[in-house]
Amino acid sequence: MIELDGVSRLYDGVAAVEGLNLRIERGEICVIVGTSGCGKSTTLRLLNRLIDCSSGSIRIDGEDIAAMDVKLLRRRMGYAIQSTGLFPHWTVARNIGVVPQLLKWPAARIEARVRELLELLGLPHADFAHKFPSQLSGGQAQRVGVARALAGDPEILLMDEPFGALDPITRDSLQNELLRIQAQIHKTIVFVTHDIDEALKLASRIVVMDKGRIVQHDTPTRLLEQPANAFVEHLLGQGEQGLKRASLQRVGAHMLALQGPPPACSVGVTDSLRQALSLMLWHRTGELCVRDEQGNPVGLLPIAALLRGPDA
Ligand SMILES: Nc1ncnc2c1ncn2[C@@H]1O[C@H](COP(=O)(O)OP(=O)(O)O)[C@@H](O)[C@H]1O
Ligand SMILES: [Mg+2]
Repeated sequence: MIELDGVSRLYDGVAAVEGLNLRIERGEICVIVGTSGCGKSTTLRLLNRLIDCSSGSIRIDGEDIAAMDVKLLRRRMGYAIQSTGLFPHWTVARNIGVVPQLLKWPAARIEARVRELLELLGLPHADFAHKFPSQLSGGQAQRVGVARALAGDPEILLMDEPFGALDPITRDSLQNELLRIQAQIHKTIVFVTHDIDEALKLASRIVVMDKGRIVQHDTPTRLLEQPANAFVEHLLGQGEQGLKRASLQRVGAHMLALQGPPPACSVGVTDSLRQALSLMLWHRTGELCVRDEQGNPVGLLPIAALLRGPDA
């Protein structure tokens, strides 16, 4: 859906990004990760033409964006950023409705869309529609920022470190929300972060950037198993790769049939192997009972099962 071909952008003769070649598929969450200054934000801004390429080209559905009307291009893309960019003197409802307003939707349709998005983001309309940005917590403001980016029903969502300023717990819950929402709306999402754990959790595929260049483009599992170079290894945190991979794998794919009475300690079928390992270490046990969401025992997880590949 999105293709970059030899894309570079110079500032005063110095490349902020250089020779980017990339294909992003429809409906995936592509996460761009790298240290500060490596060119992540520049790459996003090139996509919605907040800035133009110095050389190379970007196509969306096969069409060169340089030839598109920039307003029409931006309508196809929602944009959510860390500072939210909410208008402080406008209510939450008006902030979310800004793009539908520009698109001249009838008032009733805007109102319905605002209600729908507040509900999708877990913000009850009665409590939040009439609040002002200063009356929101950081996490709530980010939810409103995401709702606003989705308001015009764009095909593509660009997100630049949207959860970067949040505390770890709020951040974790917004990441979960994003995954839940994406399972309903199936947008093409390009998400920028400097946090490798956030990238591993959210991405269908990860683009690692270093000094303005793409050094690896792979699934989270492939990235962990075959880091392209020492920089990627360092980013993954040497020595922690095993735990990171375990956090990508679900208990359900590794459990065995339950025979005999279930062990005393339990783990959820959708929990990660990392959570299972932690429980085993904490309770000093080599096997866990696997339970479904209703709490019924559905399998057995012996410690040896953590060492096998997941069932196909
Ligand atoms: N408007 C600008 N003028 C000059 N240099 C810029 C500008 N925007 C970005 N840069 C430079 O381009 C490089 C990449 O920046 P950026 O894309 O913002 O990195 P990231 O988002 O990964 O932290 C940096 O070296 C930065 O200083
Ligand atoms: Mg940035």
